[in-house]
Amino acid sequence: MLYGRTTLSKFVIEQLHATPGGSDLAALLIDVGASIKAISALLRKGELGGQLGELDSRNVQGETQKALDVVTNDTVLQYCEWGGHLAGTASEEMERVRAVPGPMRRGRHLLAFDPLDGSGNIDLNVAVGTIFSVLRHGRDAPPEEADFLQPGVRQVAAGYAIYGPSTVLVLTVGAGTHGFTLDREIGNFILTHPHLRIPEQTSEFAINTSNERFWEPPVLRYVAECKAGASGVRGRDFNMRWIASMVAEVHRILMRGGVFMYPRDSRDPARPGRLRLLYEASPMAMVVEQAGGMASTGRERLLEVVPGTLHQRIPVILGSREEVARIEDYHRDHDEGADLPFVSPLFNARSLFRPEAQA
Ligand code: F6P
Repeated sequence: MLYGRTTLSKFVIEQLHATPGGSDLAALLIDVGASIKAISALLRKGELGGQLGELDSRNVQGETQKALDVVTNDTVLQYCEWGGHLAGTASEEMERVRAVPGPMRRGRHLLAFDPLDGSGNIDLNVAVGTIFSVLRHGRDAPPEEADFLQPGVRQVAAGYAIYGPSTVLVLTVGAGTHGFTLDREIGNFILTHPHLRIPEQTSEFAINTSNERFWEPPVLRYVAECKAGASGVRGRDFNMRWIASMVAEVHRILMRGGVFMYPRDSRDPARPGRLRLLYEASPMAMVVEQAGGMASTGRERLLEVVPGTLHQRIPVILGSREEVARIEDYHRDHDEGADLPFVSPLFNARSLFRPEAQA
């Protein structure tokens, strides 16, 4: 099937030419696309590229860095900093904000990114991705951390690339969510999935159930009801998936619906969730909302959370609207003490969810 061969460049120029600062943003997004092509080419080589494996270093989160985490971070910087559209960058792999170094020209946008999300999967040849978020920089001075601490509603563009059997770039500039597939022969991203829509209902959920003992009651309740399937209150069977690669989970949800959760848990009180707000949760929330889905912490709209620090973690629940709304209701019930009839059976003597089992 032909899609009229709308390239990424044509798409962003057409979408943004009439907006103030739009040509700069379009040019930046074309550079982001170029960095994704370069990363895609590198990842395709796999073991032959000689870049797999771990380094001795750790990132700011204390996680062991993969060689590819560092290489892909440098690739994004190399492709995106030179053009004069960016004032600075922040990334999972960099402890501090990086102002675009002189003598390169500084522009009016900020780019926050996770260069290789799901990189724990890289040696397994499982789909990984790059996530990015673009904000405006409203002053002349070089950006500092405070300039990045804007809620997700202020993003002017967001998206991700998934490096799977094909490389797909999913992008929103605030007018729907659109998917572009990389045509390797001509080296262009082609619009193949215009106006993606997430079905409102779903029977598929994704969560890492090995953390079950650390979850809050509303999440225990939701997952228990899904697992009870047709014999429980939901009256239908659910399917579960866990790829441990957020881009792959979000992509599945955009293609066929579903709900993805990395909820608040009690493992480490200093970390109310696993995923990072600025360069994982916020951009994915914008992509999902623009496709008709919903993204929440369980207690508030993700896009309205004002970040406190650059690498802040946040609970994430996103996907099909009706399911996310239901999970929010369960949090509200719990906070108002209205869920006891539902959660108390989960805490009976033989249950895995006994409060003392969570200590
Ligand atoms: O750091 C992000 C990430 O790799 C996500 O892509 C993924 O959803 C999650 O972490 C996997 O976490 P876990 O290893 O706890 O399943």
